[in-house]
Amino acid sequence: MSNTLTVNGQDHTVDVDGNMPLLWYLRDVLELTGTKYGCGMSLCGACTVHLDGNAVRSCMTPVSAAFGKKVTTIEGLSPDGSHPLQIAWIKNNVPQCGYCQAGQIMSAADLLERNPDPSLDEIHAAMQGNICRCGTYLRIRSAIQDAAK
Ligand code: FES
Repeated sequence: MSNTLTVNGQDHTVDVDGNMPLLWYLRDVLELTGTKYGCGMSLCGACTVHLDGNAVRSCMTPVSAAFGKKVTTIEGLSPDGSHPLQIAWIKNNVPQCGYCQAGQIMSAADLLERNPDPSLDEIHAAMQGNICRCGTYLRIRSAIQDAAK
């Protein structure tokens, strides 16, 4: 199997152990530090990225699982930060400490890709795996609703 992957539109040949979590490959090797480490156990969502368009927990995804695939991180969601979710996040002043927000946005982007006009219940169901220690949930829900308009 080829040991290459595409991250935010750029091809990379991986020369680390394929068992390295994708999160550490992104952060430590590619220095894409927008994706955060929270729990390392697939429980908090801080490390969420897209793999071939689907939200995954990069802390529990070996980099080898991304070989031949396309990875999108928060840095690649929109080259100029103008994704509707990013605009809505600013408008709603969503972040408090900000640590979980990249993962929140990547999960929300996955939701809107699959369901462009989600109900509040659908937003709640899709986002319940993303934990926010500061409790910004109401603003997150509002921003997603704004972005969906
Ligand atoms: Fe991956 Fe918490 S760091 S889910």
